[in-house]
Amino acid sequence: MLQTSTIEKFSFPIPSVPHASALQNIPDSYYQLTPSEVRERCFAAKEALGDSVFILAHHYQRDETFQFNDASGDSLNLAQVAKQQSARYIVFCGVHFMAESADILTSDEQVVILPNITAGCSMADMADVDLVEDCWDELNRACGENSFIPITYINSAASLKAFCGQNGGIVCTSSNSEAILQWALDQGKNVLFFPDQHLGRNTANKLGVPKDNIRLWNRQEDGGLTTEELQNTKVLLWNGYCSVHVRFNMAQIEAIRSRRPDVKVIVHPECPEEIVDAADFDGSTNKIIQIIENAEPGTSWAVGTEINMVHRLHQELYPKEGKHIECLNPHVCPCSTMYCTDPVNVLWILENLLEGRVINQIKVPRETARWAKVALDRMLELS
Ligand code: 13P
Ligand code: SF4
Repeated sequence: MLQTSTIEKFSFPIPSVPHASALQNIPDSYYQLTPSEVRERCFAAKEALGDSVFILAHHYQRDETFQFNDASGDSLNLAQVAKQQSARYIVFCGVHFMAESADILTSDEQVVILPNITAGCSMADMADVDLVEDCWDELNRACGENSFIPITYINSAASLKAFCGQNGGIVCTSSNSEAILQWALDQGKNVLFFPDQHLGRNTANKLGVPKDNIRLWNRQEDGGLTTEELQNTKVLLWNGYCSVHVRFNMAQIEAIRSRRPDVKVIVHPECPEEIVDAADFDGSTNKIIQIIENAEPGTSWAVGTEINMVHRLHQELYPKEGKHIECLNPHVCPCSTMYCTDPVNVLWILENLLEGRVINQIKVPRETARWAKVALDRMLELS
């Protein structure tokens, strides 16, 4: 059940990527294949393409798609791996902003492909550059030029990363947000953090920013803050959120703790403040995996993040080490856009590459990419 405090007042935005039926022209014959035929043909195509193709997969990908990866990781990890890659084609089993970042960080000769062009991120779509620029103008008016540094979560459009690059700002991910926010605060500046209010708030809390100096910019109401409130703000949060991570609530934590008294609760920092505060641990998807992998055999875990990753962890670690790993939300928490990349999408991409055809290339316009790279490189230097 969603917490009313975190739903906010807006409904779902329109995704920034076109609808599947408009662009995913996959022949019907592909959908007549059995799962094992798809699997075999995928591995065969991958082998035939050799070093020219490299497949990246985020932890939230479903197993049937995840199995084809050459490297997996959290958002930071995947950006770093993409940057180091020399393969001509990078097939990104993830969501749109991840493929954009990979395109920005790779050379002009390399081609980044998103197997399902409709795989967006609803949180990334909650901030657009025009509204952020309006907010920025208001901050400059109320507080003076250069008093704020913009930080964008990597879950955002390339145009917002470019905005940060052009305005002395930076990108962060869930695994480096504390170091990045500290970098900005160390410059004696205030911070405009978008799009995820929860990651921003949880990070500011960890760094000890007084709660009175953390405010929410309500984009539906021109911010909804007075000049005086803006002048007394250290961290200004955009009111975006992840629709998957706001589905965790206190009742679930209480229920699992009474059912399994020895359970450790570990959550992603996109969860609301009260969930992160109540959990035993929080961290990026890589950190969650690392903490559970390094835990004692036989331990019990309730994980507040996307279900495919939680299931995979349980499948790997229960038979081997008796670790019991379940999703904190008993009603299951899938990310529908991560889920929409299926093995048929991957097969269709790879077999077209074998025929010399590139489908679903993600190409960020040159000027946007140039400035977005400034903000991404600043982050990578600090990571
Ligand atoms: P990570 O960077 O922790 O993998 O998070 C990505 C994401 O989209 C979480 O919702
Ligand atoms: Fe976006 Fe949330 Fe899905 Fe992550 S889990 S990709 S933040 S919608």
